[in-house]
Amino acid sequence: METINIIDAPKHVNERVRIGVWLTDKRSSGKIAFLQLRDGTAFFQGILRKNDVTPEVFEMARHELRQESSFWVTGEIHEDARSKFGYEIQIEDIELIGESVDYPIGNKEHGIDFLLDHRHLWLRSSKPHALMRIRDRVIRANYEFFGEHGFTKIDAPILTANAPEGTTDLFKTKYFDRDAYLSQSGQLYEEAGALAFDRVYSFGPVFRAEKSKTRRHLIEFWMIEPEMAFMHQEESLQLQEEYVAYLIKAVIKDCSRELEVVGRDPKTLEPFTQTPYPRISYDEAIKLLQDAGMDVQWGDDFGSPEETYLANHFSKPVFVLNYPKSIKPFYMKGHPTRDDVYVCADLLAPEGYGEIIGGSERETDYDTLVASAKEAGLNIDDYQWYFDLRKYGTVPHSGFGLGLERFLTWICLQDHLREVIPFPRLLNRIYP
Ligand code: 4AD
Ligand code: MG
Repeated sequence: METINIIDAPKHVNERVRIGVWLTDKRSSGKIAFLQLRDGTAFFQGILRKNDVTPEVFEMARHELRQESSFWVTGEIHEDARSKFGYEIQIEDIELIGESVDYPIGNKEHGIDFLLDHRHLWLRSSKPHALMRIRDRVIRANYEFFGEHGFTKIDAPILTANAPEGTTDLFKTKYFDRDAYLSQSGQLYEEAGALAFDRVYSFGPVFRAEKSKTRRHLIEFWMIEPEMAFMHQEESLQLQEEYVAYLIKAVIKDCSRELEVVGRDPKTLEPFTQTPYPRISYDEAIKLLQDAGMDVQWGDDFGSPEETYLANHFSKPVFVLNYPKSIKPFYMKGHPTRDDVYVCADLLAPEGYGEIIGGSERETDYDTLVASAKEAGLNIDDYQWYFDLRKYGTVPHSGFGLGLERFLTWICLQDHLREVIPFPRLLNRIYP
């Protein structure tokens, strides 16, 4: 008899199999018990008839099996057209492995703080399970996309001496007898990588000690940062839209069951797989917002209400181009005909989800770059290696960063980033 996973049940119809499971719920009467089971790969139902098993097994199932008890079930897989999963197991034997008494997460509603305090257990529930499966699919789609487009993965360090995105939200730590910071972006290292490998990307955790407690901010999040040599911004924008569409197609194709669990109709994702995405300039965006009576001036950064208003004008993600220099980091390339904006773009997700990508063409001129780093108040000594990239064969290059959790929150239609990362780090939370 084969030991299988629930997810493979369709391949074992009418076969006797063994599965290691946990109980998520049960219903029983004197003659029959319906056990809701999960094994980490999927959820389905086990049917236990009094006449099919020994009296001890039937009594044990009725009394000792509680929510999250672990056990082996043996039985035959049958099709079950009435259930969501489509298959069930007719149980012949049960072998208890681990008891579970007073499992804290019941089948009733719990508050979010309670659930986050129990995240180590909450991950077993069907919605977090579906969200993590989609996350995993998106991560794999990243490796596929960049692998197929000639990119080499160059891992960026986590412990750094520099602050590419500004100095206000750095996590400082001791690095023997000097200070170091947890990386807030791998970008500067990817630029070195692009000049060595043409097209590179990193995928790793980044850290921002942002005191903002919003549904769009995590303290620790995961970013994908591609960087392309000999590429100007327009070509980078085309790559970005192709990339986002690719990720969405992968989710639609392979995660239909998970999308249903999280409450996202795949049909509503289809339009976002159609490229190109619309583009507007920052100047046009300001005008749109002002015409709508919003209190913004040229030079202001956009917050969540502004981004939502802008995105609502379009049925697809929209690129906002060429932001003022004063609100963007030092490494961006100056506009060829204007001295007040950079050649950069943010990609705003529709449906009120805000910025999912930030990117730009990079400054290639040594003197200009050093000057803007100084102006940004950075310690020039820590950046000599980065300036070297402009000293030895500088070339046009562009790149961008996609926030994995921002993307997932949108695709999965969630309210808050905290649910699409296994163990969220929030302003007031580092447990569990
Ligand atoms: O716009 P950001 O700060 O850009 C960079 O870090 C560049 N160095 C990227 C690059 O060009 N290589 O961040 C990029 C993306 C944002 O668009 C957003 O999706 C996400 O990272 N992000 C966050 N996600 C979760 N929590 C936060 N606190 C985030 N801050 C940014
Ligand atoms: Mg940004």
